[in-house]
Amino acid sequence: MQIEKITAVVFSATGLTKKTLSVFTQALSLPVQVLDVTEQSADRLACSFGPQEWVIFAAPVYGGRIPAAAARRFARMKGSHTPATLLAVFGNRDYDDALLEMQDIALAGGFVPFACAAPVAEHSLMHSVAKGRPDDADAVLLKAFAKEAQQKLADVSGVAELAVPPVKGHRPYMDYPSIPFKPAASADCVRCGQCVKACPVGAIPPDDPTKTDASRCISCMRCVTVCPHGARGLNKLLLAAAEKVFWLKCGKRKEPEFFIAK
Ligand SMILES: Cc1cc2nc3c(=O)[nH]c(=O)nc-3n(C[C@H](O)[C@H](O)[C@H](O)COP(=O)(O)O)c2cc1C
Repeated sequence: MQIEKITAVVFSATGLTKKTLSVFTQALSLPVQVLDVTEQSADRLACSFGPQEWVIFAAPVYGGRIPAAAARRFARMKGSHTPATLLAVFGNRDYDDALLEMQDIALAGGFVPFACAAPVAEHSLMHSVAKGRPDDADAVLLKAFAKEAQQKLADVSGVAELAVPPVKGHRPYMDYPSIPFKPAASADCVRCGQCVKACPVGAIPPDDPTKTDASRCISCMRCVTVCPHGARGLNKLLLAAAEKVFWLKCGKRKEPEFFIAK
């Protein structure tokens, strides 16, 4: 089948999912339009896609799921038997139910998720885990997967010939664990408000960016990444202690997983 347009719909708090996505898209022979749904304004975004389009959904794995905000925003994308590729990018612990959750959302939205993957990227909370990934070895695998997916589309005469591959995961999906790391502002905060705009869930009040609404915060670290003054961060002692334990459990290299129905 002939693909006329490729769109990537991405949620990426600290840029690692976006980086992984761009390794994937570099291997494709058509340009890719990127629709970033990370910021809260994307809650109002709704798009429709036709059967001659190819949509790539990419999200990070948080607590074995995709972030609820990403799930909500992906659900506003509507396909019409539109081929889709799913990337659930995880930080070398596990992707648990995240890829299955993405598959369910895509199917409910009218997409045909014929090519699904769980690539590994550096852990955005525990940076010593999977440091520097996706690396050259990941890139070789991701690009081969991209080419295989593109070839699959070229080989079939229509969407009806595409199958949805079984992926790992269980329903009901696992519950989001509560994550005890909530970034706080230091005395260096100049209240510029960049974190307010960037926060995916509106957890930083516009009238006082030095505060964080812990009940909304998803610990995604986006505010820490975007702050131009390095004025937001986590409790360093708590993080260092947790990272030590986490590294012992999850430090060993895991490989990305790929699923395309034959
Ligand atoms: C709150 C939070 C929870 C996470 N949970 C998991 C997890 O369950 N499994 C895993 O392997 N990585 C986990 N990670 C790591 C991210 O999935 C990984 O680093 C991802 O590439 C981050 O992408 P981003 O920079 O686009 O947000 C978590 C990261 C954060 C911030």
